[in-house]
Amino acid sequence: MLAHARHSVRSGISAAVASRSAARSSGAAAATTRRPYTTFDGLPEEHQMVRDMCRKFADEELAPHARGWDARHEFPADAISQLGDLGLMGLAVSDEHGGAGMDTLAYALAMEEVSRGCASVGVIMSAHNSLYCAPVDKFGAASQKEEWLAPYASGEKIGCFGLSEPGNGSDAGAASTTAKPDGDGGYILNGTKAWITNAHEAAAAVVFATTDKSKKHKGISAFVVSTDAPGFSLGAKEDKIGIRASSTANLIMEDVKVSADQLLGEEGEGFKIAMVTLDGGRIGVAGQALGIAQASIDCAAAYALERKAFGSPIADLQSIQIKLSRMALATDSARLLNWRASMLKDANKPFTKEAAMAKLAASEAATMCAHQAMQVLGGMGYVTEMPAERHWRDARITEIYEGTSEIMHLVIAGNLLKEYRG
Ligand code: CAA
Repeated sequence: MLAHARHSVRSGISAAVASRSAARSSGAAAATTRRPYTTFDGLPEEHQMVRDMCRKFADEELAPHARGWDARHEFPADAISQLGDLGLMGLAVSDEHGGAGMDTLAYALAMEEVSRGCASVGVIMSAHNSLYCAPVDKFGAASQKEEWLAPYASGEKIGCFGLSEPGNGSDAGAASTTAKPDGDGGYILNGTKAWITNAHEAAAAVVFATTDKSKKHKGISAFVVSTDAPGFSLGAKEDKIGIRASSTANLIMEDVKVSADQLLGEEGEGFKIAMVTLDGGRIGVAGQALGIAQASIDCAAAYALERKAFGSPIADLQSIQIKLSRMALATDSARLLNWRASMLKDANKPFTKEAAMAKLAASEAATMCAHQAMQVLGGMGYVTEMPAERHWRDARITEIYEGTSEIMHLVIAGNLLKEYRG
């Protein structure tokens, strides 16, 4: 299984290379070579291949179905299983634990391309990779990884992340879910986690609970919990305006027993685990937002070249060109910020501020681009026949989850001031 995931990414890459070479030698303007930043050669060859593989997969297997999945609120089970086959459900997990053993930059590129095809598939992939697999990989003991990581990194099982609660979201340290000793070396969990992506499909959750309330955030611990444990139940699926093919629901725990070996890291280390996990998660959400922004640009530019007004394509009008220029500028700027945050993480350097900048810039680019794409399309932007309205609905959440834009400003300013204070 371990070799399988890496092999899948490798064979997917080979196919991408073959199609790039064929397109080059035939001179064909293949869909995968037409987009402008494909010509940016600053990325390592392997990363360009991951991007091409994901772009092809998104064009062929995601984009044609995204509208239907959204309309039916349907979990795209086959597409997620294909993501697993391609090695994308454990992309940055070490290969010895079932992942593809690639780095964060590859993950950021894959997240963008997959989300360009379908933002719902993007969030399923990011919550699973960044919020479940990453903390288990980073903080789990070797003995925990066989059960709680390998089947997840291969895509066989899906994971989720339980931090927010009905009474606390941005103030992550105010968790009221409790973990009390069961007198047998284990714990008993009680509480409700809210807004959980993948809740209805997940086989396990990383859950944060207070083991010692008097210590405030230093009394929070992290656990890996099976979603079919006695006492564990799910709330109804939220009826969301966007990313509707992904499930979002409460995790309800009533006297859920967990053993000591389900504790992730040390007792009291949970808040740090949550913060470190969210730093990485914000790179994933930035990638998702960039995919939505790029899909909006693709849609607006194609429409502007076709649609005629006043005797010529509306792409000839400066008012439309300025919109396209602003969209491209915001998206490219955010993309570079996300690549920087990814490279810092891959170099084991601090990246909290940079990930927050990337997430803030990319989510604002996504909402602006989706809004402007709808404007370029006019009436056609307001009907479900075209994807612009879906991009507009999907974009909105990227300014809210994994830290609102307001929290991103707080993280950026906090870290900036720390640098000045020394
Ligand atoms: N990395 C490591 N440690 C960190 C850290 C980081 N990025 N940020 C803070 N810490 C540490 C601090 O160093 C401090 O440690 P000490 O106590 O040892 O000194 C401790 O954590 C407390 O730090 P703060 O005082 O700064 O913490 P705070 O309570 O003021 O909160 C916050 C900081 C940035 C606002 C934080 O609460 C936060 O990120 N909130 C947003 C939560 C969030 O993103 N939620 C999304 C949930 S997931 C989701 O969206 C669902 C989904 O399924 C997609």
